[in-house]
Amino acid sequence: MDKMVIEGGFPLVGEVSISGSKNASLPIIVSSIMFDEFDCEIENVPDLEDIKTIKKLLISLGAVIKKSDAADKLVINTSGINNFDAPYDLVKTMRASVLVLGPLIAKYKRARVSLPGGCAIGARPIDFHLNALKQLGATVKVDHGYVEVFADKLKGAVINFPIPSVTGTENVIMAAVLAEGTTIIKNAAREPEIDDMIIALNNGGADIKRIEPSVISVRGVKKLSRLCHRVLPDRIEAGTFMVASAITKGDIVLKNLNVHHLKSVIDKLSEAGVKIIINSSNSIRVKGSKTIKSVDISTAPYPDFPTDMQAQIMSLMTLSGGLCVITENVFENRFMHVAELIRLGANIKVRNNFAIVKGVKKLSGAEVMATDLRASASLVLAGLASSDGLTTVSRIYHLDRGYERMEKKLTALGAIISRVKANDISPVTDEEPKFGDVVCSKTA
Ligand code: EPZ
Repeated sequence: MDKMVIEGGFPLVGEVSISGSKNASLPIIVSSIMFDEFDCEIENVPDLEDIKTIKKLLISLGAVIKKSDAADKLVINTSGINNFDAPYDLVKTMRASVLVLGPLIAKYKRARVSLPGGCAIGARPIDFHLNALKQLGATVKVDHGYVEVFADKLKGAVINFPIPSVTGTENVIMAAVLAEGTTIIKNAAREPEIDDMIIALNNGGADIKRIEPSVISVRGVKKLSRLCHRVLPDRIEAGTFMVASAITKGDIVLKNLNVHHLKSVIDKLSEAGVKIIINSSNSIRVKGSKTIKSVDISTAPYPDFPTDMQAQIMSLMTLSGGLCVITENVFENRFMHVAELIRLGANIKVRNNFAIVKGVKKLSGAEVMATDLRASASLVLAGLASSDGLTTVSRIYHLDRGYERMEKKLTALGAIISRVKANDISPVTDEEPKFGDVVCSKTA
């Protein structure tokens, strides 16, 4: 298992280009199941382990991933799909695999998907997904750890989510696209990745409208035409690099992002004293300040402060000038990074779903262990700011699920960071980590 070795204390300076969004790519890639007349072309897809996993899953269903003329372009042909099972060994490494439920039931009226099981950050049930499919007319059976869904036909319905669910909203939209009649989704999630998927599906013949901020209508159509889309930028990767500049007192220009999608993160970092200059709608400059102000943070569904940025901003707050409270309102166990940050010298106390962070003068390098995707990012950020001693982050297969070769982008900004094989002392060059033999015991 690879490790990241970081010599911190250097300001990051330069330009970084943000990759395509993981959480938009995943639903758009599985929606290709519904487009079997032509090759599906999806551009700006990041090179991540989660993308490799979803490709493996599509291939296991009978889809073909074709050669493409660009590294970030996926060409998928789904005309040969003849299997409707998403097996446990794939779903357990990435819970977003449950997103195949919607398109399989829409197109083939059947699906058998392993229940994803819990993960490091919480129980992560899919009851909202299954209840909604039942309302659309599907029969849902849970047996031996698998959910089996069948339908003679799907009919539009009014779905009311108890709380907004990102992949729940995406699954129901896809299930409703070919249904008879219109489906209204109330308390729908508002994340931009959902709207990116809606654009992709509508350009392929679907009829989906966000009629109010939290209400989506899906008018069922008889057939779809062609899926051809360029994925929007990853706002969480962008937010992570914004914190990288702030925590190292650096000066970074981020390019190819959608500034509008980062409003809550920009506001919070500005409140903490970080200097943010908006160059254009897809470029910002982030300058770290000498002192970091302690600011309270409370996570909530979009457009409020994203839970996927909670661990990263906590790293920044460990070096703030006072005391702040970070409240995690979305997941029940998303403080696994706290114990590791404390190993780096942070002063944090956790009570239920909030963490009290008392700023310290400095962090010191140590050996720490990644526990989930965004926790691993927060440990790298803290390592970059640790002014004495090396920081070694183990189990960085978590990081590789959601960040495209993060160490290359950080090195280009002046970081002293290298990827090391667990039993090697020399930095790994360009070989791919062998993800296949590393089973993520828990997935975010
Ligand atoms: C998506 O997960 C993202 N993943 C997560 O990103 C992100 O943290 C999360 O949304 C919240 O923004 C992808 O898009 C692939 P939810 P999802 O359903 O859809 C509860 C990352 O770091 N809930 O919006 O699984 C659930 O337990 C990952 O990239 C139910 O109770 O999250 C949670 O408390 C981590 N029953 C809340 O709703 C359900 O059926 C919101 O979860 C579904 C959800």
